[in-house]
Amino acid sequence: MDKPVLSIRGLSTYFYLKDRTVKALDGVDIDLYSGRITALMGGSGSGKSVMSLSILGLIEKPGRVVKGSILLENIDLLALPERDMRRVRGAKIALIFQEPTNSLNPVIKVKDHLFEVNRRSGQPLERREAVSLFQDVLSRVGLRDTLKILESYPFELSGGMCQRIMVAMGLLAHSAVLIADEPTSSLDLTTQAAILKELSRLRDEGIGILLITHDLGVVAQMADDVYVINDGHIVEQGTVYEVFEAPQQEYTKLLLEKTHGID
Ligand SMILES: Nc1ncnc2c1ncn2[C@@H]1O[C@H](COP(=O)(O)OP(=O)(O)OP(=O)(O)O)[C@@H](O)[C@H]1O
Ligand SMILES: [Mg+2]
Repeated sequence: MDKPVLSIRGLSTYFYLKDRTVKALDGVDIDLYSGRITALMGGSGSGKSVMSLSILGLIEKPGRVVKGSILLENIDLLALPERDMRRVRGAKIALIFQEPTNSLNPVIKVKDHLFEVNRRSGQPLERREAVSLFQDVLSRVGLRDTLKILESYPFELSGGMCQRIMVAMGLLAHSAVLIADEPTSSLDLTTQAAILKELSRLRDEGIGILLITHDLGVVAQMADDVYVINDGHIVEQGTVYEVFEAPQQEYTKLLLEKTHGID
């Protein structure tokens, strides 16, 4: 296989609480490849969201990335100053957050969130062209009344709508890597199918995708490669076929036995 687009080695992220240290990630190795979907599966609290935030340099106190390297195009993101990291976010690596309400600014209009993504994408469009692209992307994630939504503020929209706007931002980013943290949880099945189709399309365009989901059906349907994480450690990895057909670890077998996902 080609060289990975993103190569993570020995990543360790700890939270220093008053009475103890939580080792949310402890020596994690992961490779993402262009044009492949890599799923990260694991129970609640296993470290999946901490992984995505660590990659983007968004871990806040009392947390800290204490060790490791994250190579993107031979540049170690952990060594980059915040100013350069800001350029990586959005332009090189886009993140669909698990909690859209925390990551959309409630008092910035939806269209201005999308303009910002388009500005960072390296392919900025002229205003009118951009608006028609935004309408197209919003309808592809199952939203109607797209002009009205563009003029809305996130605080005026439901959680499900905000989640779809986060996904639309991820689709618009044209980044080399897209991290999607539970992009379809709590959405209806039709919308979920529409979003998964868009992710497949991005994969076919050559983007490397890290897909975090509790839904084993989604992993089976979408992923090329699978990593299983438990308590901050990768316990198993392989192609989706290998992991689903012949899991090696007890933990993975337990996950796969649960019919309704992980929790
Ligand atoms: N800000 C924080 N302060 C202290 N501990 C934290 C913080 N953020 C995460 N953790 C801890 O790090 C561990 C991993 O959390 P993480 O959010 O990555 O889990 P997850 O795998 O995304 O779970 P879920 O499937 O529920 O989203 C947990 O033990 C969690 O309590
Ligand atoms: Mg999470």
